[in-house]
Amino acid sequence: MLVVHGPNLNLLGTREPEVYGRQTLADIDERLARLAQQAGVALSSFQSNHEGALVDRIQAAGHDGTRFIVINPAAYTHTSVALRDALAGVALPFIEVHLSNIHRREPFRHHSYLSDQAVGVICGLGAQGYELALQAALVRLAPAA
Ligand code: DQA
Repeated sequence: MLVVHGPNLNLLGTREPEVYGRQTLADIDERLARLAQQAGVALSSFQSNHEGALVDRIQAAGHDGTRFIVINPAAYTHTSVALRDALAGVALPFIEVHLSNIHRREPFRHHSYLSDQAVGVICGLGAQGYELALQAALVRLAPAA
């Protein structure tokens, strides 16, 4: 399992806390790592402020054993054909997460270049959104009973 965080999410905790909450990215990643460990699934997290680095990491996921991606593309949600193409290129299922409810915000945040390719989209639930995405991914990774 791979969790990808886009630009400015390294500032979580201090960045517009009324919009994004007070948890830091380290808090979120630690919680996800614990939940994945309890489920016996390997999880790695990656954050970058650079579009190309995010593309490179997604491409690497295509051949490093990753089976599912949880991604908050942050501002690149609304601009990046490159991230969309990278996800399509590796053909891995992914869930798109946003801390804030992008549909309650400025019109330019209402469109995502990724959503129509995603297994699902979670927004507006803060850090809990990542946990819900991880739970959903774990269900989808589990072998059918
Ligand atoms: C965000 C929403 C984006 O519009 C914004 O650019 C972000 C964070 C969110 O998690 O709510 O950086 O993806």
